[in-house]
Amino acid sequence: MKIVVIQGPNLNLLGIREQHIYGPMRLEQIHEQMGHFAKDNGIDIEFIQTNLEGEIVDEIQSCVNGDVDGIIINPAAYSHTSIAIRDAISAVGIPVVEVHISNIHAREEFRKKTITGEVCAGVITGFGPFGYHLAMISLTQIVSELRMAQQRTAGTTSLKVLLFYILLRNIFEFYP
Ligand code: DQA
Repeated sequence: MKIVVIQGPNLNLLGIREQHIYGPMRLEQIHEQMGHFAKDNGIDIEFIQTNLEGEIVDEIQSCVNGDVDGIIINPAAYSHTSIAIRDAISAVGIPVVEVHISNIHAREEFRKKTITGEVCAGVITGFGPFGYHLAMISLTQIVSELRMAQQRTAGTTSLKVLLFYILLRNIFEFYP
């Protein structure tokens, strides 16, 4: 299973910026811990941080038709403004879990709505850096459920093909 983690603007300043809101951990430390969890659970994980909206769109797009099973994203301030990132998430058709370190519902009015989160599989907000771990656990569950559903569909399809074949054979036996 492969997961891509996309971190948006100003998250490179974690550990420095507004520690009373985001805590003391630096982004590299968060990623290091995620890396340990990923390794222990056989997850291939890749990390990207960018301050640019278009680069986030590019990164999401590059997950299509690849071997990526899911995305964890913290679009940061773009969560509240970016229709382009929202459209990219909707377009890719792979599960995306959005994370916010702070509880966006307990902050300013403009942070309470996440237009990107609305098109994600789920949003985790307010658990600090631990939210990224919760996102990995959630994504693992979502991906395995999707795989099971795909297997069931494949099984039903082969059963339908078999029944159709038997039907055709019977018809030709009656009307040779
Ligand atoms: C944030 C919340 C956003 O409102 C803010 O702009 C951020 C960080 C969070 O992780 O809590 O930069 O996404």
